[in-house]
Amino acid sequence: MRYILAIDQGTTSSRAILFDANLHPVQIAQQEFQQHFPASGWVEHAPEDLWQTTLQSARVVLDKAGIGPGQVAGIGITNQRETTLVWDADTGEVIYNAIVWQDRRTADTCAALRAAGHEAMISEATGLLLDPYFSGTKVKWILDHVEGARDRARAGKLRFGTVDCFLIWKLTGGRVHATDATNAARTLLYDIREGQWSAEICDLLDIPMSMLPEVRDCAADFGTTDLLGGTIPILGVAGDQQAATIGQACFKPGMMKSTYGTGCFALLNTGDVPVKSQNRLLTTIAYQFDGRPTYALEGSIFIAGAVVQWLRDGLGIIESAGDTQALAERADPAQELVIVPAFTGLGAPYWNPDCRGAVFGLTRGSGPAEFARAALESVGFQTRDLLQAMQADWPGGTGDTTLRVDGGMAASDWTMQFLADILGAPVDRPKVLETTALGAAWLAGMRAGICPDAEGFAATWARADGFEPRMGQGERDRRYARWQAAVAATLGVPS
Ligand code: G3P
Repeated sequence: MRYILAIDQGTTSSRAILFDANLHPVQIAQQEFQQHFPASGWVEHAPEDLWQTTLQSARVVLDKAGIGPGQVAGIGITNQRETTLVWDADTGEVIYNAIVWQDRRTADTCAALRAAGHEAMISEATGLLLDPYFSGTKVKWILDHVEGARDRARAGKLRFGTVDCFLIWKLTGGRVHATDATNAARTLLYDIREGQWSAEICDLLDIPMSMLPEVRDCAADFGTTDLLGGTIPILGVAGDQQAATIGQACFKPGMMKSTYGTGCFALLNTGDVPVKSQNRLLTTIAYQFDGRPTYALEGSIFIAGAVVQWLRDGLGIIESAGDTQALAERADPAQELVIVPAFTGLGAPYWNPDCRGAVFGLTRGSGPAEFARAALESVGFQTRDLLQAMQADWPGGTGDTTLRVDGGMAASDWTMQFLADILGAPVDRPKVLETTALGAAWLAGMRAGICPDAEGFAATWARADGFEPRMGQGERDRRYARWQAAVAATLGVPS
């Protein structure tokens, strides 16, 4: 039997999951690492933490499973996207902490570029918006603020990479500086239609193109590593939300998935058409095989599972995330508390980095149960915001599609039932909830020739549970209208 090692380097932890050739997970190892918040709105990771937790997880998982490197057919890497690293090409020394996707420090740079009229050109090329979320303005910030960095970059001595690229560099001992098309598509520097880095945008941000990695397919040769006891090839790479789309086998236009982790990311496969959003969604690359990209519309919400963390760590009304559902079930149905969890502003489709959260409908009877229910419901309401925007952007494209869900919060029946109710559409939960790692493992396994092609893999996707809408249309419309009014009021409060 041969195995595939999936590495999932996420925002709060690094994980290594060993899959067998039938794509069943057989062993897992995970290490959390520290988050750094050096200033308000800033979020950083120590590069050495990202690397060591990844390497140790990979070593531990092989050790626990008793598997030698010769039995591993390939490594698949999936990662937190947009997070930005810059390092010295010769020494490998990273010149500044990794600036995390959540970091808002370049909001003013984005506003200035927008005011100068550059957003249309950037959106047209990249499919993204001028928001600090993406890598481009983070690279610019590092070059602007680390002494001597821009000169070193101009002299060809620095390299830029998202986390996948950094890990490939480390795993291959600095031999390979490459990324895949899905990660490139999140940098704000990559022209997703042309399939190449945009000289115009690099010029605008004063980023020398010698810093940029080579862009490859998701299933491709990314070099080999000798750091796990023998030589193992790296054969698959995709950003985590794209890997989940792959793991959910959303290979046909109109298929969509929504992943509920810290945030929520919904991707709708639009095939070989890069649909331009009129509703402030992102156009992105879902995956790329044989040089041909498949596109997606993406809605990104920054706070989903994080609202449950807030109930636990901020309000102290639950002991663990798993308590939320039971508490929500006890809520007084006559009360209709609405929480708008804009803790760090709002993502799609509003894209307001400055507004902050709000609670509406408080009464003397509002207590922990009502807060728990409103927190879970906020995730459903936000998903409906995204799906409505997708339907408006691509009328007819979504048809009667079922939403495939995964991620930690997808384990909550109550939350998934409310989601189906408020969407007025069925929700499917797969048997394998580790869809992100599964997607990365399949990419590597397919490339290694031990897993089936996309069609064969899609045939193995199995549903564990389905949730059908039970709420009446009138009630659904009334509840959603209250949410929309709450968001409008939240956006209206000066920050
Ligand atoms: O775009 C950010 C996303 O890739 C982060 O995902 O699961 O690490 O929070 P996660």
